[in-house]
Amino acid sequence: MRLVIDTDTGSDDAVALLMAARDPGATIEAVTTVAGNVPLPVATRNALITLELAGSGEVPVHAGCARPLLRPLATAQHVHGADGMSGAPLPDPVGAPTGEHAVDALLRLARERGPELTLVTLGPMTNVAAALVRDRHLLRRFRRTYCMAGAADACGNITASAEFNVWADPEAAAIVCDAATPDSVTWIGWDASRRYAVMTPDRQRRLRELGTPLALFTDRINQAVNAWATDVTGLPGYDLPDPLAMAVALHPGLVRYSETAQVRVATGDEARGQLLVDRRRTATGPNLRLVRWVDNDEFERMLLAACRDTAAS
Ligand code: RIB
Ligand code: CA
Repeated sequence: MRLVIDTDTGSDDAVALLMAARDPGATIEAVTTVAGNVPLPVATRNALITLELAGSGEVPVHAGCARPLLRPLATAQHVHGADGMSGAPLPDPVGAPTGEHAVDALLRLARERGPELTLVTLGPMTNVAAALVRDRHLLRRFRRTYCMAGAADACGNITASAEFNVWADPEAAAIVCDAATPDSVTWIGWDASRRYAVMTPDRQRRLRELGTPLALFTDRINQAVNAWATDVTGLPGYDLPDPLAMAVALHPGLVRYSETAQVRVATGDEARGQLLVDRRRTATGPNLRLVRWVDNDEFERMLLAACRDTAAS
């Protein structure tokens, strides 16, 4: 599997990147960065650091949009920490981003190699939406697109009803919805993450007991989200939405139940970012596949396998 990963590299994005880098059946062809969890330069720095720690420092990283399409940037630094990585002591990256803008890279890769590439988005969909404005067939050129996006049950994390990636740039998410078809785009939402990808104390212990550099890195960089879970969401530990989306992209057999539906995104201020999932018979044709149930234990096995490998620097 050949991956293009679009990320606003915060702590859970970093774990998704290392899962992709360490998966024996996958190759990361390119990473594109976008503002979201943290400002763009920080997301790009974190992506470079993570890829190098995971032994994939050769992967080209293309910096993209520094703000949402219409709205001012609202980060999630209050969730992930100012640096997006819980203030963990991290080495400076050796590499640097390419000079090619992420939107140009997405358009080029889709045209040149689309059928062999799987796109995985882990942040606000600003880069993808900007690319769609220039090439409305973008999502049909890729083999498939998986997005960590939305909350199919309207139980939100950044507001009562909205998930951060869609809330941060709802117009971009709406553009993706308009261009999507169920056989080209799958969304894995926070409804799945808070049920099937929560790092309970026992799971955190099993991770730390590995004692490998990637296990300790994963544990340390997610401590800010651990506090957010305790103080705000009430989950019994930090959840890993981006790694869950990446796990589904890498191994679709993890999915126990998914549905297709006609999905729209609320862009008004009151319900900003909420998914409007229309399952009525009168709904127009479905545009997305929504993953609703993932194998909980298999996800943990994949995460531990990725962190167990001591080959990484
Ligand atoms: O709502 C979870 C999403 O928002 C994840 O992608 C996390 O990294 C943040 O960007
Ligand atoms: Ca993210």
